Amino acid sequence: MRVLGIESTCDETAAAVVELRPNGSGAILSNEVHSQIAEHAAYGGVVPEIAARAHVEILDHLVRRALDKAGMRFSDVDGVAAAAGPGLIGGVMVGLTTGKALALAGGKPFVAINHLEAHALTARLTDGVDFPYLLLLVSGGHTQLIAVRGVGEYTRIGATVDDAIGEAFDKVAKMLHLPYPGGPQVEKEARSGDPAAFELPRPMLRRPGADFSLSGLKTAVRLEIQKLGREPRPADIANLCASFQAAIVDVIGDRTRAGLRLFREQFGPPKALVVAGGVAANQAIGHALTRLTTQVGVKLIIPPPGLCTDNGAMIAWAGLERLRLGMTDGMDFAPRPRWPLDASASAAHNGKA
Ligand code: KG4
Ligand code: ZN
Repeated sequence: MRVLGIESTCDETAAAVVELRPNGSGAILSNEVHSQIAEHAAYGGVVPEIAARAHVEILDHLVRRALDKAGMRFSDVDGVAAAAGPGLIGGVMVGLTTGKALALAGGKPFVAINHLEAHALTARLTDGVDFPYLLLLVSGGHTQLIAVRGVGEYTRIGATVDDAIGEAFDKVAKMLHLPYPGGPQVEKEARSGDPAAFELPRPMLRRPGADFSLSGLKTAVRLEIQKLGREPRPADIANLCASFQAAIVDVIGDRTRAGLRLFREQFGPPKALVVAGGVAANQAIGHALTRLTTQVGVKLIIPPPGLCTDNGAMIAWAGLERLRLGMTDGMDFAPRPRWPLDASASAAHNGKA
């Protein structure tokens, strides 16, 4: 079984073909990604209208390239999957409409995919992990701890009440005039800085539950910059980045430990802790999670960076997981700019879907 997957919910346009092998494992036959970072860099963040137009311009080519690289024609695929949200409405419409049109024209089943579900199921493609497991999703738009119990069975254990972690990295980078996207720049600066140079808060540490809050930390960094009373010098920048990253590492460690405990109480021992999203590329965070999971005896899975950030293979794989269970969608499936994985989770911390 082979599925073509299409992703266009944010600033990556992507198309991929994934195959289900007879033994139940998945294989990526092609995975084409066009990052729009260059288009948005001048604005210091993603501009929705520019993103939508860029998706329209490139998606057709990417689909063709994905099929070429997989060595097949469209008639060889068994289904089409497209991300239907959550994300920027313009981009979602481009990918969803393209996916539906291809499925309709070729008489193939169509599957509408929740982008968060695709992140959640990627570790089953890369590592064949069994349900249930705990997902820590940390990107520019999402910060959530989710119990993944089965395809379509998700329980939110924690989430940010304000900014996403990647967003906090990007905002701190912007304050320090570092280029966009800021996360990798902050990590680079942090390597030569002193993490104890600035005393920054660790919001939500040891609080009940497993929610996150980042805006207080972000504001604290802003205040420290103001207190300097001058443009930050290279050493200030390195020290601020190191101190900020150290605070994030502490917060992620504490909230994930709490999340694992809540998971155990509700669902028994998790098969793994799976990390996804662009922030999963951060090595300091990776080391902290390695220490934590070793301590509590849980397997840690961090898929390779190219499959942690937005890509088409994760959409194709989620499509495969659904298709083999007979879960398909109609042509009337509407885009969902907001689409929480766990519909029952309280609207109170619906900050970032
Ligand atoms: O998953 P992703 O590619 O896109 C979405 O947000 O959906 O994640 C991008 C985010 C950005 O906020 C970026 O600054 C952050 O991930 N990021 C990092 C690192 N690499 C990317 N944050 C911290 N450290 C990194 N090494
Ligand atoms: Zn994503």
